[in-house]
Amino acid sequence: MSAMDDYLATLRELEETGSAAIRTAADPDELERVRVEYLGRKARLTQLLRGIGELPHEQRRPAGAEANRVKRGLLELLEARAADLAAGVAAAAVEIDATLPGRERWRGARHPCTLVTDEICEIFKELGFLRARGPEAETTWYNFMALNTPLDHPAADEQDTFYLDRDIVLRTHTSPVQARVMEQWPPPVRVVVPGVVFRRDPFDASHAPAFEQLEGLAVDEGISFVDFKASIEYFVHRFFGADVVTRFRPSFFPFTEPSAEVDVSCTICHGTGCSACKGTGWIEIMGAGMVHPAVFDNVGYDSERYTGFAFGMGVGRIAMQRYRIPDIRLLYESDIRFLAQFARA
Ligand code: DAH
Repeated sequence: MSAMDDYLATLRELEETGSAAIRTAADPDELERVRVEYLGRKARLTQLLRGIGELPHEQRRPAGAEANRVKRGLLELLEARAADLAAGVAAAAVEIDATLPGRERWRGARHPCTLVTDEICEIFKELGFLRARGPEAETTWYNFMALNTPLDHPAADEQDTFYLDRDIVLRTHTSPVQARVMEQWPPPVRVVVPGVVFRRDPFDASHAPAFEQLEGLAVDEGISFVDFKASIEYFVHRFFGADVVTRFRPSFFPFTEPSAEVDVSCTICHGTGCSACKGTGWIEIMGAGMVHPAVFDNVGYDSERYTGFAFGMGVGRIAMQRYRIPDIRLLYESDIRFLAQFARA
């Protein structure tokens, strides 16, 4: 290595260590010590500048230019750091590498149940359904009786239901909001009602004591079973895909007549049978039916004039299908690793 190479290498080293020392100086005293060390009368840089005369003649000019450039650079940094310290800026721990990608900040994510709820509401909005809400602590009247469900019905049993008081329960379904909406607005009505419901269910892979439901109600003159089926099929095609098949099975609910259970062909195995659909090829997505005339009578609608359909689905179950979530409990734990998967890119 020539004397010139040596000289330049030392300059570069002083430039690097000096810059870092200046940037990380935590207070004016430390900055002063750094100044003396790198730019003082006895500093190596000062000595290097003085020693230029010892270099071969033709190298003195470029070496001097480089040494002065380093010195000016350090002086500038020193001034900037002094200003920062005066303004209270904390010490830069490391030199900034502008080529490093930024560190991503956790911005939160919407819960899969919220994503699915919003998506379902958007689809029904296309059919003219508004969003409605109702209370989670509900009277036995709205939760049961207004819906044509006598209090001695098994669903009203204290063993199955969280009673807050003799006549107040944590609602066991979102259906009471049907009655509340109809009492408040004259027909026609079309609403979707998302919300949490409560049951004395075990907390296992497919049950939770509190879970999200989504209720739907359409009432008008002349609404028929055809409108009901067509609306549900429209939703299924928009939500699950055009190739998914819908099946209506006869069922019973006190507040609908006739009542149906709606299944869709399993979106995972496409109907051939897998563990998600327990080998049946079908996934149950909702209870539904034509609104029972007794419900209209209870809310003051003319049951001779108006007909309608209603449905209620478990949002968590649908989210599990959509995102292939194997255990419902994942939806009700606050594990960031699970939730982070639903952050939008
Ligand atoms: N409320 C019922 C439940 O929680 C679901 C349901 C069935 C809602 C039929 C409806 C309906 O609106 O028409 O199991």
